[in-house]
Amino acid sequence: MTKADKPCLEVCLSPALLHLYDTNDAVVVIIDIFRATSTITAALHNGAKDVIPVASVSECIAIGAATPGSVTGGERDGKVAEGLQHGNSPLEYPRSFIEGKSLVLTTTNGTRLLHMVEGAAEIIIGSFLNLSAICDYLLSQNKNVLLGCASWKDRFNLEDTLFAGAVFSRIQHAFHTNCDAARGAKHLYDSSGGSNFIEFLKDSSHYHRLSKFGLEHDMEYCVTPDLHPVVPKLVGDRIIIV
Ligand code: MLT
Repeated sequence: MTKADKPCLEVCLSPALLHLYDTNDAVVVIIDIFRATSTITAALHNGAKDVIPVASVSECIAIGAATPGSVTGGERDGKVAEGLQHGNSPLEYPRSFIEGKSLVLTTTNGTRLLHMVEGAAEIIIGSFLNLSAICDYLLSQNKNVLLGCASWKDRFNLEDTLFAGAVFSRIQHAFHTNCDAARGAKHLYDSSGGSNFIEFLKDSSHYHRLSKFGLEHDMEYCVTPDLHPVVPKLVGDRIIIV
């Protein structure tokens, strides 16, 4: 705890900066808006039994083969990775397909960051799809919070930072913050106007990258607030809804 008995909130803008933050006993929110944390949130809310996040494509194939009732999914550089059954699109996992199944998932940045975090009290999954649920949960915990942006190959990105700013602007009253990354994220969120996120993000590096593959609809979906109001949490090696 810090000043005035309020817990502390910080924002980490890239996995390359994670070593600078104290994650011990903090609630760490993993953020990968385009698209890993959006996909995880949608799949679980649509009834997936759990999501098993893994680092490599070969591990994903092996764990998928050894897990009855599972499907493999993921991407490398935004495209469905060779050898996996499905991609990293939230739209690929509707209830009619994913209910009752385990999704074994590997992605370029999102699942990587998740595996880098050490000593956290909890690791939860944040996206615009569960924005309000995440904010309510963080307010209820009274613990230090680190909003962790998965970014793109360690480089700052707009969409994860925008989400961090959205969370910070909603819950900052309950936290002590002396973190310029959090302040910067909030300035970014304020300058977006707070609603038409997709217009704001159209000139972002990952929007340009994914739109080359015709994934504009995916990205529009990923910035729709509160479509999937759940709090996914890492428990052991699996992500489930708490
Ligand atoms: C990632 O983890 O890098 C992303 O989710 C990539 C993507 O599928 O857009």
